[in-house]
Amino acid sequence: MGCAISGLGLAPRQTTEPKSEEDAVAHLTGDQIDMIKDSWKVIQEDIAKVGIIMFVRLFETHPECKDVFFLFRDVEDLERLRTSRELRAHGLRVMSFIEKTVARLDQLERLEQLALELGKSHYRYNAPPKYYGYVGTEFICAVQPILKDKWTPELEDAWKSLFQYVTGIMKRGYQEEEQSRRYHVVVSAKERPDKKNTAL
Ligand code: HEM
Repeated sequence: MGCAISGLGLAPRQTTEPKSEEDAVAHLTGDQIDMIKDSWKVIQEDIAKVGIIMFVRLFETHPECKDVFFLFRDVEDLERLRTSRELRAHGLRVMSFIEKTVARLDQLERLEQLALELGKSHYRYNAPPKYYGYVGTEFICAVQPILKDKWTPELEDAWKSLFQYVTGIMKRGYQEEEQSRRYHVVVSAKERPDKKNTAL
């Protein structure tokens, strides 16, 4: 389960710290984007395997994340999950999102929209932002052995920054959805017919 990732907080190793999580991608240089795209070509060949490894690791290191998935929360033996069709399908959905992210590195507005919607859907899945950072960490641990000597500290920083950016926007989407639900609850409580009647 070990993984030689440096710093699990996903903070990019740079001298000038980005102002916020979302600023991280603004610090991705053209070289870093090229590095991510090149490494993705290798990762893509093992996309299903990486998805499974990533989630099994996530559930091992943070069992509280497993409870969010009603399909997996009762599975005690994590080894069984390695051959689970459901986990494979879920891993592939998440990996396809990462693929879209990589493809949209040159169109940040589209990437932002995608990540914002994903954050909103995670509010509906009851998956809170405090867990999102773990996924980037486990992704990095899962892809390191696949990239072998192509893995460098610079590539690690580039992927960390990308995850930091995406999860920062997801968090915003989650909060927007949470606020909009709260607003609707307040508004509909105010508009209750029985309330109107008492006012008459
Ligand atoms: C970088 C972080 C993450 C990314 C990129 C991500 C991505 C995705 C994607 C692409 C889906 C497919 C459905 C959709 O598009 O709405 C999904 C579903 C889901 N995610 Fe995430 N996710 C992340 C973190 C998490 C975490 C940390 C949890 C739980 C603690 C979680 C729980 C779920 C659940 C419960 C579903 C719905 C079930 C399913 O589709 O099988 N996600 N996620």
